[in-house]
Amino acid sequence: MLKDEWVTAETSPSLALVKYWGKQQRAARNIPATGSVAVGLSDLSTLTYLRPLPADEGDRIQLGGRLQNPERFAPVLRALQEFVRKQGGSPPPAVEVNSENSFPTAAGLASSSSGLAALVLAYLHASRIPYTLRDAAKLARIGSGSASRSVFGGFTILPAGSEAAEPLFDKDHWPELRILILVMQSGPKRVSSRDAMELARETSPYYPAWCADSLQQVAQGRDALGRRLLPELGAVMRRSYLRMFATMFSADPPVIYWLPESVAAIHACASLREHGYDAWETMDAGAQVKVLTTEEQVGRVRSGLTEAVPGALIYTSRPAGPPLVNGTPVAPRGEE
Ligand code: DP6
Repeated sequence: MLKDEWVTAETSPSLALVKYWGKQQRAARNIPATGSVAVGLSDLSTLTYLRPLPADEGDRIQLGGRLQNPERFAPVLRALQEFVRKQGGSPPPAVEVNSENSFPTAAGLASSSSGLAALVLAYLHASRIPYTLRDAAKLARIGSGSASRSVFGGFTILPAGSEAAEPLFDKDHWPELRILILVMQSGPKRVSSRDAMELARETSPYYPAWCADSLQQVAQGRDALGRRLLPELGAVMRRSYLRMFATMFSADPPVIYWLPESVAAIHACASLREHGYDAWETMDAGAQVKVLTTEEQVGRVRSGLTEAVPGALIYTSRPAGPPLVNGTPVAPRGEE
């Protein structure tokens, strides 16, 4: 690859329906202690440009025009270099990366999932070596657990203790599914999901129970997703996110991402369900609420949520397709 040639990768954030929350041990390997089942979110994207740099320049990584601390990316960049060497290539001595999100960053909208997946895919493509999507998913996991899922788009699973996410279904498995994303707070959160899950692991008396119970939630979530049963999936989603938050509320010190508007949206979903609508919410490490519904009901559900939380910005999303590298759906080199 020529020095001035940019590779682009476009990825979608991965929304966990059943949550990954906690690592197996405090190590750079970033192996999830709980499994997750997720969907890629269309209409929200990270667009990343990457090009090699000479060694003396060092890595230069910008997100939304802001220079990032390269330390955050050092483990994944090291792993990428090793992988490229193992595959017989020569890794670029340094890289320049410019990344833009079409949605608020670090606000609990899974920007690390799409961001790290885009970085890994662009790097692998730029290195011109053979790789499989499983390789990309393993490498992305080192950057961020949820990024392993964003490598595929569609519906994915990242099993507990696993090194890589796996695709479950492509986006056409459930075309009428709609996901409303309510943004109540667009500034970056005060505690990163990484720090919060580590604090929960170290200090919450409920953390072991959370891990033990999550095996069952993953199995039930996967099954309901396979059969496209929204009320069943919704019930699993609620158990998963609320039990995950139980580990945060019970941590020392507690982590409380929720805002009054988050609670208003949760109640609005309950009220919509009482009126016969499918409105199944979930939350991540932030104040935002994401609501699963159907194409048929999305108008009514959206207006119910707008009434309950008038100030919220609402995105409407559906299951996302695979990432694009240089504008075409990701086609790993060397995969059968
Ligand atoms: C609540 O993938 O951001 O969104 O592996 O430490 O980078 P690291 O964590 P990250 O955590 C995601 C947590 C979550 C749930 C999920 O996406 O499964």
